[in-house]
Parts: sequence; C-alpha cells; structure tokens
Amino acid sequence: MSEKPLAALKNQNVAEITFADHTRLALQVFSDTIIRVCPIDALANPSYAVVAKPQPTHFTVQVEAGVAAISTAALHVKVYPDHHMDVYDQNDRPLIMDYRGQRQPLNRDLAADETSLLEEEGHAGHEAVNAAAALTLIKQLDPDEVFYGLGDKTGFMNKRGYEYENWNTDDPAPQMENFTRLYKSIPVLYGLRQGRPYGLFFDNPYRSHVDLGKESPDYYAYSVVHGPLNYYIIGGHRLADVVANYAHLTGTVPLPQRWTLGYQHSRYGYQDAPEINQIADDFRQHDLPCDALYFDIDYMHGYRVFTWDSARYPDPEMLITQLHKKGFKAVTIIDPGVKREPGYPIYDDGKKHQVFVKTPAGKDYVNRVWPGHTVYPDFGSTKTRQWWGQCHTALTQIGVDGIWNDMNEPAAFDGPIPDDTVFSDNDKKSTHAKMHNLYGHNMSHATYAALKEQTGRRPFVITRAAYAGTQRYATVWTGDNHSLWAHLQMMIPQLCNLSMSGFSFAGTDLGGFGSDTTPELLTRWIEAGLFSPLFRNHSALGTRRQEPWLFGESTLAIYRKYLRLRYRFIPYLYDLFALAQSTGRPVMRPLVYGFDQDRQVYDIDDEYLIGDALLAAPVVTKGKTSRLVYLPAGQWIDFWTGAVIAGGQEIQTAAPLDTLPLYGQAGTMIPWGPAHDFITDEPDRAMSFKVFGDAASYDHYQDNGYDFAYQKGEFNQYHITFAQGKAAVTLTKAGYPAGLYSRITVTAGDQSFALQLENGKYQRIDKN
Ligand code: GLC
Repeated sequence: MSEKPLAALKNQNVAEITFADHTRLALQVFSDTIIRVCPIDALANPSYAVVAKPQPTHFTVQVEAGVAAISTAALHVKVYPDHHMDVYDQNDRPLIMDYRGQRQPLNRDLAADETSLLEEEGHAGHEAVNAAAALTLIKQLDPDEVFYGLGDKTGFMNKRGYEYENWNTDDPAPQMENFTRLYKSIPVLYGLRQGRPYGLFFDNPYRSHVDLGKESPDYYAYSVVHGPLNYYIIGGHRLADVVANYAHLTGTVPLPQRWTLGYQHSRYGYQDAPEINQIADDFRQHDLPCDALYFDIDYMHGYRVFTWDSARYPDPEMLITQLHKKGFKAVTIIDPGVKREPGYPIYDDGKKHQVFVKTPAGKDYVNRVWPGHTVYPDFGSTKTRQWWGQCHTALTQIGVDGIWNDMNEPAAFDGPIPDDTVFSDNDKKSTHAKMHNLYGHNMSHATYAALKEQTGRRPFVITRAAYAGTQRYATVWTGDNHSLWAHLQMMIPQLCNLSMSGFSFAGTDLGGFGSDTTPELLTRWIEAGLFSPLFRNHSALGTRRQEPWLFGESTLAIYRKYLRLRYRFIPYLYDLFALAQSTGRPVMRPLVYGFDQDRQVYDIDDEYLIGDALLAAPVVTKGKTSRLVYLPAGQWIDFWTGAVIAGGQEIQTAAPLDTLPLYGQAGTMIPWGPAHDFITDEPDRAMSFKVFGDAASYDHYQDNGYDFAYQKGEFNQYHITFAQGKAAVTLTKAGYPAGLYSRITVTAGDQSFALQLENGKYQRIDKN
C-alpha cells in the first residue's frame, strides 16, 4: 500500500483514527452491535434521534500492515489509509464494504434546456440531489442484497433498485413507487447480504439521498448536502435483533392508552356539532364499535389554531362531554402555521414572546397555509415549545383527548421556505436547511410534553412529519393516500417499513383519503388494515363519504364484522405494544422480519405478521376472491376453520369478499378479549386465550390502560401455559390488584378450560 500510514488509538469508548492528511475519525463503540462513525470533532454534537448512551463494551484497536482494525464481539471494522472502511460480522464475513470503483450516474440523455421544455408540459424535472451533495458514502452491492427500512417511503417492501430522498415533503399527488420523498425522514436502512443482516443509521437531518442499486448493480450510496457524515453501523444475529438494536438507539414507542387501539373515524369536511353528534349516534345505532371521532381543520374559526368556529360549534365543551358519554374520545387537529393577523390572540402572544421563525434580516418569516398568510413557531427553541404547549390548555381543559399534528413538514403553499430562514437548533441559531426535517419532530415533542403535563394520561399525538426518534412522542399516519387499489397495496410495505424504522404505532387512512372509495375497496381495506396499529378511516373534503353505513347492508355487515374482530384482538395488540416498549420488537412485521433466512419472503408485499403468532394475507386486488399465500416453515392454523397447514409452501386459499385470510402459527397463543363497543378505563373482568397447535406458553400484560402508574409497578403479568391437554395460569406479577381477572378461559381447538382466581391463584373450575 503506497498510502501514508494512519494511527489508531483507544480513548475510552472511542477508537480514534488519525490519517496522514491529519483528518481524524472516531469509531464510537455503543455496544457489541452498535458503532458510531463520525469526525472526532463531531462526537459531542447533540442528536435529536439518539437516546442510548455508549455502554461499557470490550473492544480492541490495532494497526496491522497499515490498516486499523476495530473489533467488538459482533463487528470487525477495518479502516484503510485511503479512508476506506470495511465491516465484517463476528465470523469475518463481509457485511458493509466500501466500493472502490467510479460512480456511474444514470444516463438520462437530457440536455439542460430540454429539462425546461419537459417542465413546461408539467413533467417534474429530475433533481440531481446526489450531484449537489457534499458528502457521500458508497458501498459494494452484493447480487443478492436486499434493503428495508427508511420509514414511510412509497413502493415495495424491498427497496433495492430505487432511490429516495430525505426531505419532508407534502405532495398531494397520488403517491406511487416513483415518489422519492414523502412526509417523513427516517434514515435507517437495513440490509441482508447473503442472509446476513445489518443496519446503517445516517443521523444527519440535512437533505440526504439514498440510491439502493438504481444507478448501478455494483454499489449503493448515501449522500448528504451538509456534514458531518455521522452514522451508526448496527449489527445483530438476526434482522429482528438489528431492528431492536436500532429501536433502543433511538428510543422505543411508549405504551399508548388502550383506547387508541380501537377503531377511529375521521373526515375532512364534517360541518358542525350536530353532524359530529349524529355520526357518533350512527356508529352506535349501526352497532359499530368506535373509540374516537376527529375534528379536522373545519372546527376552527377561519383555520386559526386554538380557536373554535362559534357559529358551528357554539359549545365545544358540551359537545365533547356528550361524545364522552357516548363512549367517544375527541381528537382535534392542530397545524403549526399561525395566521398572521394582529388582534388574533395566539398571533399577538406569539409575537410578544418572539416565538416565530425569522428571515435572515430578522423579520417574521411568512408563507401561506390554510388560514392564509401564516408565521411558523420555532419548535427548535425550548421557549417556543413551552409556549406552544401552553396554548393546548384551551383544548385539554374542555376535554380533548388527543392532538393531531399536520402540515408540519412544514407545508408552505407559496413555494419552498428558503434554506437560510432562521430556525433554532437546541436553542441556538440555525437554518431551515438543517431544521426542516426536524420540524415535525420538535412539534411532536412540544405536544407530547404538553399533553402529559396537562392530562396526566399517556399522550395521544399523531404527526404527519417525523424524523428518526419521533416515535418517542407520536404515532404517525402516512398522509394523503388515495382511494386506489395501488394505495391499499402500498399500505403493507409502508407500515411494515415504518415498524422496522422504530415506528410501531402507525397507520394509513383506511378507505383512502383522496379520490372516491368503492364498497369493495373499503371492504378490503378494513380487512387488510385489521391489525394496523393506528386503525383510522379518514377521507378528504369533496370525496365520497366513507361512513360504512353508506354502502349498503352487505358492506356494512362486513365492516362491522372486522371492527368487532379488532376489539377481540386489542389485548393481543396491547401486549405487543408493551413488548415493543421494553424490547423494541415491532407490532406489525414484514415476513422477512420473522423469517430472514427464507429468501422466499424477501419480496412479499401482501402479507404481514402480527407479533409472533399471526400472519395476515389480505386480498388487495380488485375482483379477487381467492389468492396464493406463502406460509413460512412450520405449521399454521387457519384462523377461520382451524385446519392445520404445513408451512414452507405457497397455498391457494379462498377469500370471498367477507374473508381476510388469517393464520396462527402452531405453538403460539394469543389473548382474545371480550367484545366491546369502545374501550373504557374499567379493566376487563375476564380474559380468554386461544392456543394455536398442541402446546404453547404466553406472557400477558395488563395495567390500567391510561396513565403512568405502570411505571411504578402497577401492572399484572400472567404466564399461561397449555401442554399435554392441560392449561395453567401463573400470576407472575400482581401490581394492579383492581384489574386481576376473576376468570380466565384457555381454548385449544375444540377444548376449553376455565380457571378462576381464588386466594391469589388461578384454579381449574371445569373440564370439558
Ligand atoms: C392534510 C392532511 C389531511 C387533512 C387535511 C385538512 O391534507 O394530510 O389528513 O384532512 O390536510 O386538514
């Protein structure tokens, strides 16, 4: 090697590399499986995403034959004098290897003046983000390498062959696989290279670009317009472990309130208090379980945040009280844009406290959103977050149960916000270019903190824009999809990739937001979305209304069947949320998550797993009443018929319009809750468990479902076993005595066992 030598030394948890050109690189060891890479002088930079602290970890740093070798028990990294880097797994097999060749940009055969010609007809010009980028990483691509993650990007589960951008964007056009960017920037990428999993988390909020083998089959690349290059190499035995490691790095999803797992209904366009009350009554009258109704921007006075239109909503507090009595929670939308209007108290107060982002000349920056000309709260400043949080008392004091944060990319109707607009970054002066992708994150943070303080309950915040780590504050939805079969299909990869990217609590607008739904599409959507963690039907102003009773008796009956079914699964989903919080294992999972050694599942876009126990294979194609289902190795039990099916094969299954093909994995168990019309703060008095196969054991979690008492030990844990025809329940923790089930039933096939609580123990009370 002709390069000048490098030097490497170990300084606490950092391997410090000094190159001959005097640049200095840090490899900061967080654990055996997580190593951060950044310039040494960037080590102390704060991160909005990362919450984990480096753990004391044994690792070695050596220089051999001019090459620095940094090794933990799971990862071996080699750094070369020419700055290249290769990462190997614990068995020295290649994981992430630098590409040493030339980049081969796509040949677009287009002169500059031809771009403007295309634009005149309305075609989007191709933005060469990668060319403008200051810093680039290029890695070798293995012929069989596949990619997942990156949050809510459009397209398929496996991201190989596509390019994406991280620049939060509100584009209402129907999102297709050629969309490079959406509302969120979650730059975590998972790869499987010859079945060996790894993760890369690029923690830099500036605009970045990822090419996953679109330009060339030889490499994949990441580039960002502004430094530092700051990223994490994540290892793990299985893909599931890599995903859990990432979740711990950026924070797991906090346990939500139980009611938030119920069905929720929304529409942009509900007119007034009588209409909202009528919708509530219609749900009950049609025997449709529902837990929440939403107030979209229509409730406000001229779209001014924290106001109500007094003509249409003369007494919002009374309306919310009425909704509560009927078993509905109320969720109100709050957008960031504050109408620029002297005399409007929120604007005046914000101005007084200097909370709005500024032009470089020091004036409030103004663009346009729903209310007309608006100014933007500067959420990167602590003072602004507190001020914004305080504004929410107007809603929490009248009983609002959740806040829906929208338009927080931030959206701007009069063209893009200039890069040099002055935004705060951890209270220091910064730019829009740096803070853009963090705007929704910091807004969610403000909302979460306010709801926690003002209600004492687990905050229910929904956000459209997000960055890595926003899962600590908010659930997300995927924004403005359309009532299109292609968008029903896209729901599964979007939610599964969001799950893998730390966001276990996510949903799409069931039925589709834009365009007009159809009875068949709505039906298949409610089936396919049955386990969508956030389970909300939402539609746009001017589109066909999506209340399920408007499509005739048969659609209504199927819709009801799935809403009722959803409530039986809530205890299972709640268990999975408890697990997601403690272990980082997501609720909704792609098949590759559970079966990463089975190449058959790498490109499955129309099936998903719910925890370890269930596999859903919805029909997502118009007119289909049967489908092929791939069942991974093992045995599977048809949820509807109880038939036992061997896995490791594709089966043909009937799926008439009222049927979601659903399978339980043999050797698992799930709780099966009582039927409910809505969730209350009252604990269930009895619980059932369903066994798939001949034997299984299960740990079930229970708490009051709404506040933080569980963090002080107020929860119950039950260990349920079924083996050799016998069921047993052990109470492994009884910190929430008021909730203890008086009766537990375990069913396995056609056998059923009842147990009753007596003197702190569950005793069999019958035999069938
Ligand atoms: C945006 C949101 C949508 C909402 C609408 C009006 O388009 O994505 O959900 O209904 O704004 O507030």
